[in-house]
Amino acid sequence: MIPVWHDAQFHARIARLTPHARFGCGTLHPMRRADHHPSRRTFLDVTGAMMAAGLTAGCTSDSARPGRHAPPAGATPMPVAATGRHQAGITIPQPAQPNLLAVVADLGATVAPGPLLAELGQAIRTLTAGTDTRLMGLPPGDLTVTVGVGPRLVRTAGASLPGAADLPRFSRERIASPARGGDLLVQICAGDALLLPVVAAALLDQAGDRIRERWRQSARRGANVSVGNGLTAPRNPLGFIDGIVGPHTTAAQQRDLWLAGPPAVAGGTLAVLRRMELDLPRFAALSVAEQEAVFGRRRASGAPLSGGTVASSPELGAKTPDGRYLVPANAHVRRANPTVVGAGLMLRRSYSTDEPAPGLLFISFQNDLRTFTATLAHMDTSDALLPFTTTTASATFLILPGFDRQHPLGSQLFG
Ligand code: HEM
Repeated sequence: MIPVWHDAQFHARIARLTPHARFGCGTLHPMRRADHHPSRRTFLDVTGAMMAAGLTAGCTSDSARPGRHAPPAGATPMPVAATGRHQAGITIPQPAQPNLLAVVADLGATVAPGPLLAELGQAIRTLTAGTDTRLMGLPPGDLTVTVGVGPRLVRTAGASLPGAADLPRFSRERIASPARGGDLLVQICAGDALLLPVVAAALLDQAGDRIRERWRQSARRGANVSVGNGLTAPRNPLGFIDGIVGPHTTAAQQRDLWLAGPPAVAGGTLAVLRRMELDLPRFAALSVAEQEAVFGRRRASGAPLSGGTVASSPELGAKTPDGRYLVPANAHVRRANPTVVGAGLMLRRSYSTDEPAPGLLFISFQNDLRTFTATLAHMDTSDALLPFTTTTASATFLILPGFDRQHPLGSQLFG
């Protein structure tokens, strides 16, 4: 039977969890570097390290409400509910956690996705609750794990389902074959960078030799800047506030972010990951005015070059007295503008990288792959930002609908 989640059910569930939100949660660990090495390991054996019991049973959260602000520095981040209509790690927590590890893997040819995904979902519940011994007693804090399946697997469930199409090729790509596509995405995000490789090891151990890792990427987000309407966004390595425009209201998320159907995918969404190296020295050699012309926004404030505040929409028709566009014709915010492109809004939740090269792990979520492909096709012809980028990894995944104990991860699609 296909489970159907109703919003009221979900909110009642979150409300029930609220009183326990801070029970047993430890303090933040100092930031440490996560594992940056791209790996060809098929799996990790951490059984010898299964020692300490989890300390944080009962950590569940009311942090599903959008617009919440991060706790003060040094405070324990609020736990995030792993279960519900949608997976965590997309719209919650808000703001997004500062650290990310994305692991992309393939399934063995004879592996049944249903049981594997159900096991991963069960492991995600115990890891985020802090009751999994493989956490070795580390407090999970605001840990989220988001799981997606690649086009090959989606096609085994239905050739016309959302998520069944591969991403096309675009210009300025230099992608080694292991870093293109993949069957399984595990996106791990947390306030504590130490958790990321530990959680990845636990999930890879759970999957065992049923999966083969293709590539992984660690990344982080800078400090959050207020962008109005109770929202925040970080700066990217080029110094510009990144993540201002997107489906931030419930109505916009219903329209452009979450898949409404068919039932096998309802409550899910489509993710695009693109690892983009940035030519920092060449961008830094530009004057601030030239840098702002590349994006079409002010570097310091994030305001559009057509005026207003960071929360203002760019006025694309506005011109100087001598007839030049205030937001240049090849500015990124004009080339990527959803109205100009004729596409929906995408939720951009990108993280910055420093290895293998400085750049951006661009991550977008949208309910129509065309939102991404039409935008990048429109940028490809003349976006002033693109000459500063080289894309070195590229993949799309159907992010599975949310899950809980009664409705295992992946059961809507592979049950
Ligand atoms: C390294 C690569 C990229 C960087 C550094 C970057 C950075 C930015 C920045 C600073 C903004 C303006 C502020 C904001 O609305 O967040 C922006 C806007 C935007 N970007 Fe990117 N971006 C990159 C690649 C892409 C790609 C690959 C896409 C999709 C194909 C994309 C889609 C968008 C969209 C849709 C907007 C909003 C435009 C608007 O309506 O104003 N970006 N980006």
